[in-house]
Amino acid sequence: MAGKDRILVLGPTGAMGRHIVWASVKAGNPTYILVRNTPGDNNKISLIKSANPETKEELIQDFKNSGVIIIEGDMMDHKTLVKAIKQVDIVICTVGRLLIEDQVKIIAAIKEAGNIKVRMCCHFFTHMTMPNIYAIDLNYATILLTGTRFFPSEFGLDVDRQDAVDPVREVFEEKAKIRRVIEAEGVPYTYLCCHAFTGYFLRNLSQVNTAVPPRDKVVILGDGNVKGAYVTEADVGTYTIEAANDPRALNKSVHIRLPANYLTLNEVISLWEKKIGKTLEKTYVTEEQVLKDIKDLDLDNYTKRYHKYTKDIYTIPKPTFTSPLYRPIQHSYNTISPNR
Ligand SMILES: NC(=O)c1ccc[n+]([C@@H]2O[C@H](COP(=O)([O-])OP(=O)(O)OC[C@H]3O[C@@H](n4cnc5c(N)ncnc54)[C@H](OP(=O)(O)O)[C@@H]3O)[C@@H](O)[C@H]2O)c1
Repeated sequence: MAGKDRILVLGPTGAMGRHIVWASVKAGNPTYILVRNTPGDNNKISLIKSANPETKEELIQDFKNSGVIIIEGDMMDHKTLVKAIKQVDIVICTVGRLLIEDQVKIIAAIKEAGNIKVRMCCHFFTHMTMPNIYAIDLNYATILLTGTRFFPSEFGLDVDRQDAVDPVREVFEEKAKIRRVIEAEGVPYTYLCCHAFTGYFLRNLSQVNTAVPPRDKVVILGDGNVKGAYVTEADVGTYTIEAANDPRALNKSVHIRLPANYLTLNEVISLWEKKIGKTLEKTYVTEEQVLKDIKDLDLDNYTKRYHKYTKDIYTIPKPTFTSPLYRPIQHSYNTISPNR
């Protein structure tokens, strides 16, 4: 483990956080987690039980057995946060949508902890002018003095380039605001962007109120031809830790788009139809109707899906994609199964 950055995961018992913890342990990074003494949300856990134990207690015990350093406390407690952050080089936050704005507390704690580390990098970074990053160009290499790097809770589409509708838009705007605070405070960062977690959007062909893919009828928002990047939560964990261990990802947005998993909903449905040997009856809902239903029927589930299936959010300029960056990694392919 010598030489690897120490990583603190906030929200390690959540649907996403646990995968980041496992990836960090696997990569050999000394891994710290902050856990609060509450029973946890068993509904969340059951959503992804294929890869995980049933309860929060079992999960924490598994972490302990794997050498993860457990810090007990609440993220809302400033002293606990500062104490935890002082012990690490990188903070990865995976809190859920209700706590996005509270991440200002983490930014304040990172500033107070004030850890400074010397890093050697290629001259890629010599023109950076972030307030607390100093670069010395030595022709072939650069020495950086940086503080604790922060990965805010993102793990969705690029929140500076979104076209969602409320209430999801509000969450994206909160995430974008957190970006602005990080940048204004000069905290080193990486923004990890992906598209749709397979656990949420693939395993049920993105149908509302079901955890399994349909066998008879399927509802498609829009025309079904907008491409989206599906990714397993475990792969998000792996690529997040790759980015954490990669100085090129400093002060960058890193996008996960795996070529084999970059598909339209029509393509995904067609894969499923081939698998079960049956053609599904398809109902297409126009973008106008989706917007009307969201407004008239208050369909929260539609709002989560609207932008994913009606807008091509990947027409973005010059992002840094993980697939060319981290080619040797074997990522998970799309698998849709009734029992996942
Ligand atoms: N791209 C996609 O398809 C997709 C899908 C879902 C989520 N996401 C994003 O992924 C990120 C993580 O979401 P999630 O659903 O994985 O979150 P989650 O399951 O709700 O997990 C939240 C975590 O935060 C912890 N936590 C909450 N309050 C805390 C406190 N006061 N002190 C310490 N820990 C606290 C929880 O601990 P306890 O166990 O103690 O409650 C849990 O570990 C979010 O940014 C979300 O928007 C993306």
